[in-house]
Amino acid sequence: MPDLAYLNGEIIPIEKAMVPIEDRGYQFGDGVYEFVASYEGRLFMLEEHLDRLERSLRELLYDPIPRETIRRAVVGLFNQSGYPRAGIYIQVSRGVAPRNHAIAPGMAPQIVMTIRAVKELPEALRTKGATAITVRDTRWGRCDIKTIQLLSNSLAKQKALDSGCNDAIFVSNQNVVREGTSSNLFIVVGERLLTHPLTPNILPGITRLAILKICQEAGLAVQETFFETEELYGADEVFLTGTVTEVLPIVRIDGKPIGDGAVGSITRRLYKLLREKAMA
Ligand code: PDD
Repeated sequence: MPDLAYLNGEIIPIEKAMVPIEDRGYQFGDGVYEFVASYEGRLFMLEEHLDRLERSLRELLYDPIPRETIRRAVVGLFNQSGYPRAGIYIQVSRGVAPRNHAIAPGMAPQIVMTIRAVKELPEALRTKGATAITVRDTRWGRCDIKTIQLLSNSLAKQKALDSGCNDAIFVSNQNVVREGTSSNLFIVVGERLLTHPLTPNILPGITRLAILKICQEAGLAVQETFFETEELYGADEVFLTGTVTEVLPIVRIDGKPIGDGAVGSITRRLYKLLREKAMA
């Protein structure tokens, strides 16, 4: 099956899709994105992703794009690809203009999308757990907007891989534990789950939202509250959430085992419940 791209209204092979070099996304990182996945031929939580995209556009003062335009493009691309388990990147940049920090009036946003089969995480990461390092959070002050400015995330991820770990966890200057490089983070302490509250310092993850709902339905108590690295290291379980990450157990952080160093029962249960929800 072909990997396809959507480029301002047209569906073409991915390798043929190009944007002009004066696109503000390329020059200034002036763009936002979403990543949506499907399970068994159905897009999971598409409307929530479109809500977040609209919010990102609004926060950066883009002219609104009719939701139906984006939805129709996503669904068209998805249907044409035929992938039952697809990952779709939706990216909107402010548009093309001669390079200038000031934003030219009346810019036409560029809408691009790509679709590929989801590359599932190795089974061993799910059954044995993943490892992480902590890194200083050097990102800008609006991590709640899903912008394409991902250099800090990318460097942190690479640092983790170079040190033989799977991912990195951002920690603020005040030692507050934020989130992963492309995921949100939960810890389990006894019977309670803790996760960072929605502030400008983390992305409001759609999987995070799904997990909060699942916990509510399952009678698991979640507190959206700040916590520090000591609580992270001392937690019974730690897991990351994200669209492809789903619910990923973290069993070792900065070389320290979490709990007994094995995947915890709440993490396992939430992974199962999330998959059930996605395939219901
Ligand atoms: N990343 N936090 C950050 C910094 C992220 O980049 C992501 C998602 C999340 C989880 O959000 P969601 O549950 O909506 O996927 C949290 C996507 C998957 C990416 O960059 O590819």
